[in-house]
Amino acid sequence: MKSITISVNDKKIHAEIPAPQTLLDFLRSNGIMSVKRGCESGECGSCAVLVDDEPRASCITLTLQADGKEVKTVDALSTRPDLSELQKRFIEVGAIQCGYCTPALLLLADHYLNNALSPSEKELREAISGVLCRCTGYLKPVEAIKKEFKAN
Ligand code: FES
Ligand code: FES
Repeated sequence: MKSITISVNDKKIHAEIPAPQTLLDFLRSNGIMSVKRGCESGECGSCAVLVDDEPRASCITLTLQADGKEVKTVDALSTRPDLSELQKRFIEVGAIQCGYCTPALLLLADHYLNNALSPSEKELREAISGVLCRCTGYLKPVEAIKKEFKAN
């Protein structure tokens, strides 16, 4: 067992964990259920998180690799019961079907919008390209995200 401290959405978590544990398992076992379990091989993107502000697939990241770092999930975007403007755009446009990919799409889109000097659809599509959506075909999510950068 290894002792770690990780800041998850600005809350420090100290824990004893088995060395091979993935960050996906660590987060879900700590109640962060917005990080979704999909392929578990780094392909689908549904488990995306930010580690020190860099997008990572948590299913192929060891918890140990996040020791001492800041992890951000989609839960950090809103202060319940208020949704972020980007989340409201998704609802307004109807950019959600089953919703399985939505936390990862929102997190990566928010990260892109926070870092892009001059957002463009091409760059935006690249930023979210690691997240596979089986339902919407990306048109609605892209429409929702573009509304947000046109609004700012
Ligand atoms: Fe991590 Fe698919 S569950 S990339
Ligand atoms: Fe179902 Fe994207 S809304 S996978």
